[in-house]
Amino acid sequence: LRIDWDVMRAEKDGYDHFMQKEIAEQPRAYRDTMLGRIDKETKGVVLPELNMTLEDIHQIQQIQMVACGTAYHAALVGKAVIERMTRIPVEIDVASEYRYRQPVIRENTLVIAVSQSGETADTLAAMREAKLCGARVMAVTNVVGSSVAREADDVLYTMAGPEIAVASTKAYTSQLIALYLFAIYVSQSLNTMDAMTRMELLSTMEKLPEQVEGMLEDTRTIQRIAGELADRNHLFFIGRGLDYMVAMEASLKLKEISYIHSEAYAAGELKHGSLALIEDGTPVIAIATQEALLEKTISNIKEVKARGAYVIGVALEGNMEMAKTADEVIYIPRTDALLTSTLSVVPLQLLAYYAALARGNDVDKPRNLAKSVTVE
Ligand code: G6P
Repeated sequence: LRIDWDVMRAEKDGYDHFMQKEIAEQPRAYRDTMLGRIDKETKGVVLPELNMTLEDIHQIQQIQMVACGTAYHAALVGKAVIERMTRIPVEIDVASEYRYRQPVIRENTLVIAVSQSGETADTLAAMREAKLCGARVMAVTNVVGSSVAREADDVLYTMAGPEIAVASTKAYTSQLIALYLFAIYVSQSLNTMDAMTRMELLSTMEKLPEQVEGMLEDTRTIQRIAGELADRNHLFFIGRGLDYMVAMEASLKLKEISYIHSEAYAAGELKHGSLALIEDGTPVIAIATQEALLEKTISNIKEVKARGAYVIGVALEGNMEMAKTADEVIYIPRTDALLTSTLSVVPLQLLAYYAALARGNDVDKPRNLAKSVTVE
């Protein structure tokens, strides 16, 4: 098979890499994943594709989520928002562990499998196990007619469009949008969120695509920081709450394509061991978009700074506290505290991209990794 360079270039719409193109496509992917799912009149979420009746939703006693890799990181955010909005307890496992811990699965358990490709063997095996035990299985997937979609009782599609780069970007953020919509959908069925809060949240969500567009306009700061990080051997990401979950995804992105070793830590946990690894100049990327947790995160930043860390903060526009504490700050637009993950991850995807470029790596096809893993 000979693939013409021009054809490849055309498929990339003039971008140098699929990953770069896919990062840029995120505003479109957010819009498409929301399209037709927010009712203008009732100001609620409509998901007619689900076979769930109101009664089915009322019967859900617990939710278990299974996924791998980046999809697992989206599911972590999903767990947090579903619990906050619906008060249904949510457990989460990486799919390859789920079966072997003998999870307690009951008939009123809803299992949510999140998978971009819908073909990941570990995720399929986990959902088959859940079905055998009598659970209802819902899939959140990007590929119509995929194995995960075919075997699930309900399917909620992400509308990211084909994702070619091995490192997932627009599929992750579309999974976040889909899971937010699902959480709001369940909360409106159970009346666990008042109508006003829901309406405000949905109109804030509708502004996200434009905010991402704004962030993508000028990436010079991120390019410069990526250049500074490119010759480092290891770094940390820290954050609290939803920021910790984004930290995990940002760390994975960086490892996958730049091969720089990094670890994501809950900001408050670092001092219980890993602080020993901070020395003069160790880069620490501190995500602090959760205003309720800001003071605590800032004090964690001071802990690492006192040990010599070079701190890059990710904060909401206008956060002066971060500007005073960190060495560099990447600002993201203001939004609802529950939604910041959909914005804060974008500059960190770009950071991984530019760091990988600076190191001369094959951004779209990182060593040892495959887009879809069909063996357990
Ligand atoms: C592979 C890919 C990851 C991906 C994971 C899960 O390991 O390299 O980028 O997150 O599979 O894939 P899925 O298609 O199930 O979301």
